Amino acid sequence: MQITEVKHYEEMSKKASELIINRIKQMPKTVLGLATGSTPEGMYKELVQAHKNGEISFSNTTTYNLDEYIGLPSEDKNSYRFYMNDRLFHHIDIPLEQTNVPNGMASDLTKECKVYDESIRQSGGIDLQVLGIGVNGHIGFNEPGTSFETGTHVVQLAPSTIHANARFFASEEDVPKQAITMGIQSIMKSKEIILLISGAKKADAVFQLLHGEVSEIFPASILQNHQNVHLIADEAALSKVK
Ligand code: F6R
Repeated sequence: MQITEVKHYEEMSKKASELIINRIKQMPKTVLGLATGSTPEGMYKELVQAHKNGEISFSNTTTYNLDEYIGLPSEDKNSYRFYMNDRLFHHIDIPLEQTNVPNGMASDLTKECKVYDESIRQSGGIDLQVLGIGVNGHIGFNEPGTSFETGTHVVQLAPSTIHANARFFASEEDVPKQAITMGIQSIMKSKEIILLISGAKKADAVFQLLHGEVSEIFPASILQNHQNVHLIADEAALSKVK
């Protein structure tokens, strides 16, 4: 794993956006895997700014998001489709048809998962996947105990994840209990991964990620087996590995 230590969140966001911009300049048809949550927000702001400055076009890029809550329509401001439109897609020149987020309102969720994996496969696979990490080591919504062999699937969210994500909702009861997520296998098939981690509350997770054994108990540990992971983390997140 290549590790870049940055001072703070802003520098992490800038570095990540530069990596993405360089990839798209080299290969305009890049297939990007994207994450939501607090961690990539700054990176999305940087990408929007770069586009506004005329530095980068996303018109040939295709995107696949990692996950989506089950039961939230795209207009719900807590759905990940809403998040992506709001933070990125509506501010850049990517045609919306080239953006993909699992449909958490699908009547047949098993079929939706299959169709999502097939669509990724037909696009040639993910070239560059952006990941955040949960304090319990989840990536996407692959919670501790998820098999490393999974493709896109439906999950029950862990109480700790519901608790962590309640900050976006009116109350913890409003957080959906289920989600669709790309599986560990889908993530591991990405040709390149950028993992972003910021803040002291993730310091234990970073320690476990880098020094723990590879185990389904801590899903992100599988990234130790990927050939092309670039971790960009700030000083606070790396404070326990020194
Ligand atoms: C979101 C996702 C999650 C988050 C993780 C960290 O699409 O895949 O795995 O990356 O929950 O969330 P934040 O960045 O809010 O700490």
